[in-house]
Amino acid sequence: MKKILVTGGTGYIGSHTVVELIGAGYEPVIIDNLSNSKEDVVDKIQAITGVRPAFYKVDILDKEGMDKVFSAHDIFAVIHFAGLKAVGESVKLPLKYYDNNITGTLRLLEVMRAHNVKNILFSSSATVYGTPKTVPIREDFPTGACTNPYGKTKYFIEEILKDLYVSDNTFNICLLRYFNPVGAHESGLIGENPNGIPNNLMPYITQVAIGIRPFLNVFGGDYPTPDGTGVRDYIHVVDLARGHLLALKKIEESANGVYVYNLGTGTGYSVLDMVKAFSEVLGRQLPYKIVERRAGDIAECYADPSKAEKELGFKAQYDLKRMCEDSWRFQQKLK
Ligand code: NAD
Ligand code: WQD
Repeated sequence: MKKILVTGGTGYIGSHTVVELIGAGYEPVIIDNLSNSKEDVVDKIQAITGVRPAFYKVDILDKEGMDKVFSAHDIFAVIHFAGLKAVGESVKLPLKYYDNNITGTLRLLEVMRAHNVKNILFSSSATVYGTPKTVPIREDFPTGACTNPYGKTKYFIEEILKDLYVSDNTFNICLLRYFNPVGAHESGLIGENPNGIPNNLMPYITQVAIGIRPFLNVFGGDYPTPDGTGVRDYIHVVDLARGHLLALKKIEESANGVYVYNLGTGTGYSVLDMVKAFSEVLGRQLPYKIVERRAGDIAECYADPSKAEKELGFKAQYDLKRMCEDSWRFQQKLK
């Protein structure tokens, strides 16, 4: 059984990917410092899959801690999710973001190299495209003009990984640019449960639905989009997790290189489309108010997913209704 080290494996996307890895016959080994997740996620993964993955509370800034994990396990590949991801916080605390995300990745890569582990999938983001000139967004669009430190960490890490490959072509690297992950595992046991006021749309919607918040603030009603609200490419987190299995297969089967894929659905939905779809699942209208635009937001962002489809065989399966149903089930179980 191939062992896959999953950094950030108790987090939102990581935990769903661990479930899929187990289902596909891999042996995931999780490291996470639990800065944005809880250890009981390991119990939930066990409840879903019947398998308890190895878990180490280790920080990616801690080289010695990681070294021990790599010594204890014969790791085939790393899926690197660990990172801080709050856009607004990154503007206020850029050094924290650069240290955690970039220094942490450097430490991880050093330990990987020392243990001769050369396969890595990296959690990048559509944010590396900044404000795209046109949509849908293709992988060959320019990157780097990011509007916040969080986004820049993703861009810089992509560049670091490309340079690493130039210096050592025994590395095999896959940069996965996620669009907007939403939804939860169908069991309702794992999902996204942010601390404090959610930054992202779907957790905010589910908190309004459960009564934690009175209404949704729709950020801007005057964008040049069909209904004036922002358009994004929402992808079910289980589809996203499955994309990692296909990327892993690609790494296993292809020549060494740096591969780059968008993971999205190719369909853009507006904030009001999301409100409508969620209201249908809820069985009543979700209360909302249209307010000012949020600083740094763009009008439209959705993927051209054809490269991932052609080269990985990746195609998202779950529709918007399913994304809303699964997000809602998870929120209700949290009560
Ligand atoms: P998450 O916060 O739920 O998961 C990240 C995990 O990493 C958390 O469990 C956290 O405790 C852990 N972590 C953070 N810093 C660490 C460190 N120094 N050492 C060890 N563990 C650490 O976030 P997520 O939504 O699952 O995102 C996973 C990855 O995907 C992140 O790199 C994120 O930037 C990226 N991404 C997320 C989105 C999104 O919208 N959710 C979109 C694009 C890219
Ligand atoms: C989606 C739409 C908002 C909240 C962010 C990061 C990006 C990536 C994914 C990690 C927008 C609107 C939102 C609310 C609203 N993360 N909205 N009311 O901004 O596309 O992307 O998460 O890499 O880097 O920037 O996602 O969920 O915050 O917003 O109207 O309370 O919902 O304006 O149009 P976004 P989001």
